[in-house]
Amino acid sequence: MAFRVGIVGVGPVGDRILRVLREHDFPIDGAPVVMATRERKEILADEEVLVRKVDESLFEGLDITFFAGREGAKGAGVQWGEVATAAGSWVVDNGSDFRMSEGYPLVVPEVNMDTVTDENRHICSPNCSTIQMVIAISPLHRAAGIKRVVVSTYQATSGWGQAAMEEFETQVKQYAAGEEVKWNASIFDKPIVFDCLPRIDSFLPSHYTKEEMKMVDETKKIMDDPRMEITATAVRVPVVVGHAESINLELERPLSRDEALDILRDSEQAPGVTVIDDPESLRYPTQADCVKDEHKDAVLVGRVREDDTVEHGLNLWCVSDNLRKGAATNTVQIAEGLVARGLL
Ligand SMILES: NC(=O)c1ccc[n+]([C@@H]2O[C@H](COP(=O)([O-])OP(=O)(O)OC[C@H]3O[C@@H](n4cnc5c(N)ncnc54)[C@H](OP(=O)(O)O)[C@@H]3O)[C@@H](O)[C@H]2O)c1
Repeated sequence: MAFRVGIVGVGPVGDRILRVLREHDFPIDGAPVVMATRERKEILADEEVLVRKVDESLFEGLDITFFAGREGAKGAGVQWGEVATAAGSWVVDNGSDFRMSEGYPLVVPEVNMDTVTDENRHICSPNCSTIQMVIAISPLHRAAGIKRVVVSTYQATSGWGQAAMEEFETQVKQYAAGEEVKWNASIFDKPIVFDCLPRIDSFLPSHYTKEEMKMVDETKKIMDDPRMEITATAVRVPVVVGHAESINLELERPLSRDEALDILRDSEQAPGVTVIDDPESLRYPTQADCVKDEHKDAVLVGRVREDDTVEHGLNLWCVSDNLRKGAATNTVQIAEGLVARGLL
């Protein structure tokens, strides 16, 4: 059995979706229907593809459509999500528009694939930082109950799309050529080269950013625990691909470093996690590690240690490829979950 597949959006996430579909041998019937705001040919996942100008007629006959467009009133999810489901297609959406809306499952397959039913065919994939965090902390939550999370992120420029990756590259070239670094203030408030910017997405009246509140709200929805206390600081760092997070947990019951490592190393208890934690050999995961072939779809966890400043405290560090497990791989795994459940 093979499926008619659509992809809306051909930025770095759209590229990775086609790449992961090919790598996973997802059964695609014919050429995927690739759409964006205007027609042209593009190289996507090393293939030349015809990109069609998105239009209602293109969703006819599609079994599943992966959305990797932008958010907001002019974004792909708002403009075309309902059109796609009305045409009979499942939608797996990387955008944030519907993540917190009732009736829209917000899914990380390792954690809550069971929330998907035939009635809710527009499935949302969470924010990239949220995905890697819930994969790392869910097994610990099951073992010892998480009361409070304090997370600080170190997020790559690609998290803000193709334009931000190119802006970072331009700044690096200017710096390397000994030129004055000129920056596009519509992308970053300040030069990102050799600096870290503690603002991702817009500021809210609470002085948190939207990105920070996505981590708070989405985590509670995915882990189905509205009482969990979470506070986040999201920081853009001069890295091209790969997000890192420092996570401090306050648990209900004690969990030693060794117990936590045993859980995280067990693929049944902690699916999707790879532990790299060996202080004696100076081994810990970094953003450069998560884009390596052997780790590109994993959430790498290290620096696990007890925090004695709070009752049952635990610190950890996690790293993952924001374009793959933080977006594309998660959506392809959702599609595979639908197939496995006979829903697609
Ligand atoms: N980058 C990440 O790490 C990451 C992680 C998780 C989730 N996401 C989400 O995934 C989505 C894609 O991210 P990206 O980084 O690939 O973004 P991007 O580089 O900005 O690319 C967006 C793509 O969407 C297309 N598009 C925008 N509005 C559209 C519309 N109304 N109809 C059809 N196509 C439309 C654009 O078309 P044109 O090429 O024709 O302009 C472009 O190809 C975003 O919603 C983002 O928030 C991104």
